[in-house]
Order: sequence, then C-alpha cells, then structure tokens
Amino acid sequence: MTMSRKLHIKTYGCQMNVYDSERMAEALTAAGYVATDTPEDADLILLNTCHIREKAAEKVYSELGRLKPFKAANPDLKIGVAGCVAQAEGAEILARQPLVDLVVGPQSYHRLPELEARARAGEKALDTDFPEEDKFDRLGGRPKAQRGPTAFLTVQEGCDKFCAFCVVPYTRGAEASRPVARVLEEARGLVDRGVVEITLLGQNVNAYHGAGPDGGAVSLAGLIGDLAKIDGLERIRYTTSHPNDMADDLIAAHAEVPELMPYLHLPVQSGSDRILKAMNRQHTADDYLRLIERIRAARPDILISGDFIVGFPGETDADFEATLALVREVRYGQCYSFKYSPRPGTPAAERDQVPEEVRAERLSRLQALLQAQQEAAQQAMVGRQVGVLFEKAGRLPGQLVGKSDHLQAVHVEAGEDWLGRIAPVEITAAAPNSLAGRLAVATDQPG
Ligand code: SAH
Ligand code: SF4
Ligand code: F3S
Repeated sequence: MTMSRKLHIKTYGCQMNVYDSERMAEALTAAGYVATDTPEDADLILLNTCHIREKAAEKVYSELGRLKPFKAANPDLKIGVAGCVAQAEGAEILARQPLVDLVVGPQSYHRLPELEARARAGEKALDTDFPEEDKFDRLGGRPKAQRGPTAFLTVQEGCDKFCAFCVVPYTRGAEASRPVARVLEEARGLVDRGVVEITLLGQNVNAYHGAGPDGGAVSLAGLIGDLAKIDGLERIRYTTSHPNDMADDLIAAHAEVPELMPYLHLPVQSGSDRILKAMNRQHTADDYLRLIERIRAARPDILISGDFIVGFPGETDADFEATLALVREVRYGQCYSFKYSPRPGTPAAERDQVPEEVRAERLSRLQALLQAQQEAAQQAMVGRQVGVLFEKAGRLPGQLVGKSDHLQAVHVEAGEDWLGRIAPVEITAAAPNSLAGRLAVATDQPG
C-alpha cells in the first residue's frame, strides 16, 4: 500500500475562504491526500490568502518565509498559494518567493488536482483564469462523513459593485449565483451529515439570483424559503449583504421564516454622504438608517452588525463625526472597523491620503463607541430566553459553549448530549464577548 500524502491548508480572510478551503481539501482527499493539522509533516501546504488590506497580504509573504525550513526538511514538500493574493499577484508570487510551486486563483480551484500533479512533476503551476464553468460543480471530492452542527455554504460569488476602496471585484471576478437545485442538494447533504445550521455565503449574498427549477431567477428570500423546508435544518443565516440589495421579500423573510436567525451583518462603511459617494456605495446615510428601521419593524429583536472604514481619502473631521452619529443612531450589537488601506489597482489608492496618525486616532474613537454598544447589547440579553446551538465543550468541566440565535457566544452548564442541538437558555450574565446562561428545560438531557 502506498502512503497517502498529507495536506495542510492555512486559511486567511473571510468565511468564503473557509468554505473554499474545505472544498479544496475534499477535492484533494479524493486525489489521495489526507488532511493534517500540522505543517511540519505535510507534503502539500496551501495558503488560502486574503488581499483585502495591506496587512492581510503581507502576512502571506512572512508566512512563506517561515515555511523555508520545512522545505529543507522534506524535499517532497510542495507549497501552494490560493485565494485573493494568488489572484491579485499571480506570477509575481513565483518571482518573489521561489519556494512556491503552485499559484491558484479563487475561480480555478476545480483545476487544483491537475495543478498539484504538475507541481509534483517539477513544474511551476499557475492558474488565475476566470473560467466560464462553475468551479463548485466541478470541484467534486469526497465530503467528510460527519461534521459539526454548523456549516458555511457559498451561494453567490464575486461582485460588480466596485466600491472605490475594494479589491474583491478584481480578485473574485463578476457576480454569479449558483443554481437553486445545487444549493439545495448541498444543503441536504450537510443536514444528512449532522448539520443543523447553515450560513449562506456570498460577497454580496443578498444580490443572489440563482436559476430556479423553471429557469427563472430566485431571490435570496426565495432560496431561504426553500431551505427552511428541509427537515432537520433549524437555523439559516446569510452574510455579507449590501444595503442596496436588501429587497422587500428578504426583509419580510425576517418576519416570516422562523429558521432565519435574528442577526444581520449590513456594512455601511461611513456615515457621511460625501464619503459614501466617493466610495461609490450608491446610497446615502439616511437611506441606510431608513432601511434599518424597516428591518427592525419586521424583526424587532434583530441584532445588527456592520463594517466601517475610517480615514478614507478625503475624510474630514466632520465626515468622521457623521459616522459616529450614524453609529449612535443605529445601536449596533457587534461591528468590525478598519483603517483605510490603499489597495493597488483600486481608484481610491490614487487619491490624496489621510495621514496615518489621523486614521489611527479615528479608529480608536470609533472602536470605543462600537465596543460600548456591543457591551450594551450583551447586557440587554440578561434575563431573556434565547435558543442556543451547542458547538463544543466549554473551558470548565460540565460546561458547553454555543451560539445564541443572535450569534453571541453563550456558556451553559449542560450534559454532552446537548452537543449539536439547540436548547432554550435563560441568559444570566453578560461579559463583553460572551454570555452565561442556564438551560430553560425541565431536565438536563435533550428530549
Ligand atoms: N462585500 C462586503 C464586504 C467585503 S470586504 C460589503 O460590501 O460590505 C469586508 C470589509 O473589509 C468591508 O466591508 C470593508 O469594511 C473592509 N475593507 C474592504 N476594503 C478595504 C480597504 N481597502 N481598507 C480597509 N478596509 C477595507
Ligand atoms: Fe467590495 Fe463593495 Fe463589492 Fe463589498 S460591495 S465586495 S465592499 S466592491
Ligand atoms: Fe479577503 Fe478575498 Fe475574502 S480579499 S476578505 S479572502 S474575498
């Protein structure tokens, strides 16, 4: 019997990369690899990279440098770069870091087994095409027999919005949706393997318009409705959304579909109309605020999260104050905020930049406000009863950790039989990043 080669994938960036890594591992497992958690004993190391901010991209080169001794120790080791840095830099990576054997962009993953074989044969293998075919259909592979209770499922990829700061339209290509039947088939397969919660992924997931059974386009709300009918699928989430694609039927789904969880990540980036325009976001701060009102009218307890960029070119103190004002009005439950990072090839990179110390100062002020809001949202849960899906053992004996309907981490004393199941939990205490609660059921065993 020949020994299987070992595969180690390190994933950076967004959840779509997490999903892609999983699918790449499945495809390479079918090609004879077994997964390993440690790079030391791997025969193929893949870095699935992110290009969204400068720091994210630089990490890749420093990680590659760290892999040098592994290659010296194992002459059979092949090193590959996948993801958005692979797409953005392509052959540049092979030139800058000779220990790389393989570079594959996000739309070419179905060609990975073939690229791997070429790299094995001693070639430098590079593929950063945007092929016509659907990579996920052709990726194939051997799905893991059993898996945890939650899973990602990519339903939409790419972006046509071209926000002035963003590399995604260049690294992921044009917007495309997977057909409804494919998504449902994959979702059923996940549920058969123990999944009870699916998060639908897309760079602009709410722009989803996949082909339905009769060939017509189905909206994200339509897809969610179909998924909700799958027996055993108890929770549905989706991310990331653009404000302009928050269609009426999707807002209504938050009121009507019990499986659709009360959490929405809806980035706005800035609260200044001038900056929103310069960013090419195609909406005003007021449009966003009215939208949040309508979503809250449909689902009053929904927890809103978002993304912000501070120090975008041209941002004045008054623009930044407008962002703080918008944040105060929305009252977020959770948020991600970043200093603007000029990305090569994007329009905003060419403009006059805000000084680094101004960006840093604004970021810390914004983060202090967002942190206070998150803590208030955590505190507001105390005394309430929520569903918790238990995912793993907690730090203390007899304790499990799960996620609430609102995606907050919750620690509960509960028997291991609850793992992978949803229980009603009364929240008893709140910390900035997690909650504590007790089972709101008569026995500590699931029924
Ligand atoms: N499609 C999503 C966001 C994808 S990128 C959307 O439209 O909201 C995730 C987040 O990274 C963005 O929301 C933005 O806040 C941040 N980001 C993107 N490009 C950036 C840049 N050049 N500098 C700093 N942050 C950036
Ligand atoms: Fe980037 Fe804008 Fe597209 Fe989001 S909508 S992926 S921020 S270009
Ligand atoms: Fe990063 Fe690419 Fe995702 S740039 S955020 S890995 S789409």
